Amino acid sequence: MASQAWQAHWQQLRQDKQQQQSWRQMHIRQWPSAQLDFICNDYLGLARSRLMRLALAEGARRYGAGAGSSPMLQGYFSSHQQLAAELASWLGRDSCLLFSSGYAANLALMQSFARFSQRTFLDHSCHASLVDGLAFAPQNWRRYPHLRLDILEQWLARGEAAQRRLVVSETLFSMDGDQLPAQQMARLTQQHQALLILDDAHGIACTGAQAKGICADLDQQQAPLVMGSLAKALGGAGAFVVGPTELLQTVQQLARPLVYSTALSPAMAYASRQALAYVQQQPQLQADLQANIQHFRQGAKHYGLPLLAVGGPIQALILQQNARALAWAAQLEKQGILVAAIRPPTVGPNQARLRISISAQHSRAQIEQLLEALNDLQRQEAEALTLEAQP
Ligand SMILES: Cc1ncc(COP(=O)(O)O)c(C=O)c1O
Repeated sequence: MASQAWQAHWQQLRQDKQQQQSWRQMHIRQWPSAQLDFICNDYLGLARSRLMRLALAEGARRYGAGAGSSPMLQGYFSSHQQLAAELASWLGRDSCLLFSSGYAANLALMQSFARFSQRTFLDHSCHASLVDGLAFAPQNWRRYPHLRLDILEQWLARGEAAQRRLVVSETLFSMDGDQLPAQQMARLTQQHQALLILDDAHGIACTGAQAKGICADLDQQQAPLVMGSLAKALGGAGAFVVGPTELLQTVQQLARPLVYSTALSPAMAYASRQALAYVQQQPQLQADLQANIQHFRQGAKHYGLPLLAVGGPIQALILQQNARALAWAAQLEKQGILVAAIRPPTVGPNQARLRISISAQHSRAQIEQLLEALNDLQRQEAEALTLEAQP
């Protein structure tokens, strides 16, 4: 098939990854299923809802399944144009561009702006898609420690405001679940005249005033470029970037994921319009989600589970060692409860964890079931340690 050198390379890679317990595998998801899902980013339960299934079918009936080409050629349908206009108007921005994934949107942003920035500062916990986008940038970027806006401020103060500088951050961090103080970030970047890119993939439709995300209270001057996901709380696939027309026209010239990739499915764009309308009509969804998050957090506190202190739908239970995170996830799966074991390099060394996604659709009984199972695991571990310590 390929040379011995290739064979040796693949074997070594597998061996190393297996030794570090970081060998990844895909599992076929059963649906419908009796399993309890605390993995999906489907925070409002829309992905498999009747609403979205019918909307996607109707979208396919009207527009067909695939876009067939790049949005720059024949792949831009009226469903795309309408969705983009509705997102821009909802979020109070001039324009909106759609992408086939959040990964592609972030690469596009970094290609269009980090590449031409003279100094780029990025939060250390930013998503891989933003970090990967730096491959297109010159070597003049630096990652500041997670959420340390005081350090970012020092770095910005040391440089020259007249330069083209760029600051990049997530808003609701995908692995820790903690939040950027968005107002403070906007003040800081405005004061130092740096361009700000915010990835609100996990905030849109989930949180903020009228479900407009973590940037809900920021205008286009304060947060010029905001990326949002159609694939998480909105339950579909794809992503968007909103911002000033001039900036988004720049993206259209430069972003290879937009120019050289097939557009988001027009049926999905249609379905996303229905999801967006539904979220706007149903503020109860966010209230239900918040109530479930509070319920989970209170229960975890009661059982003394090592949760990070964050209030959003992503809850991280820090277990440190890879083997421990994998064992807990496997034990839970045996009981029909799905949670994600997250290991380095996705998180820092010794930071392995269970990432628990809470949804508005979880019932109280389901959250209780998870809490009790976690408490049992914790208790079993403590008992095993006590036995080991006995002479
Ligand atoms: C913060 C953040 N940005 C971007 C992405 C990429 O989005 P997508 O899954 O649509 O490619 C993710 C995906 O999980 C994410 O968590």
